[in-house]
Amino acid sequence: MNEQIKPDQAAKDGTKMAETTEGHDEVDATVDTPWAQFMTDDEYYPFLIKKNVRPAFWRWQDLKPRLDEVAADPLRRADRRFIALVNEDTGDAGGAVPSTFIGIQIFNPGEHILPHRHNSFALYHIVQGTGYSIVEGHKFEWERGDTFACPSMGLHEHINTGDEPAIQYVIQDMPARAMERNLVWEEPVGRMFHMVEGDHAPHKD
Ligand SMILES: [Fe+2]
Repeated sequence: MNEQIKPDQAAKDGTKMAETTEGHDEVDATVDTPWAQFMTDDEYYPFLIKKNVRPAFWRWQDLKPRLDEVAADPLRRADRRFIALVNEDTGDAGGAVPSTFIGIQIFNPGEHILPHRHNSFALYHIVQGTGYSIVEGHKFEWERGDTFACPSMGLHEHINTGDEPAIQYVIQDMPARAMERNLVWEEPVGRMFHMVEGDHAPHKD
C-alpha cells in the first residue's frame, strides 16, 4: 500500500501521489512529466518544420533477389512475404514517404495468405500472377495489371491460383497509424495486436 500524499503536497515536492478513489488504492499518479513543455510560436515552428525527405528509387533488379529469398521461407500464418521499401529519411515512421508504406508481396502457386485485418488501409496492384482475394466477403479474381482496395479493418486474404509466384505492389498508411501509436493488427482472426500495448510483431507466435 502506498503512503497517501495530498495533491498539493505532491505537486509541491514532485513526489508520487497515491490515489484515494475507491478501487484505486494501488494506483500511482505521476505528478511530474518533465517532457510536457511550453513553447512560444517562435520556438514551436522551427521545432515543427522538417526538411523534406529525399526522393528514393528502388530498382527491380535489386528487389527481385530479396523477394525470391522470402518466397523460399516457410509461410507463417498470414505472414505476407513482404519486402518493405523504406526511405531512411522517414526515420522511425518507416515509410517510402513519411505517412505511407510501400510493400512488395510475393507468394507461391497454391499459397494462401490467411484472413487478417489491420487499421491501415491497403491498396493492391498486381505486378505478376493470377489468383483471387476475398476482401470483406467480396471475391476479386485478379491478374497482372489489376488493382483493388482494402479499407481500414477490412478482413482480407489472398490465394495464388496460378503457376507462377504472384507479386503484389501494396500501399498502406501504416506509418501514419504508427506515428499516431494506434496501429493494430488482427492476425490470425481473433488475435489482436496493438503496437503500443501488446506484442507488436504480428507474425510471431
Ligand atoms: Fe494485410
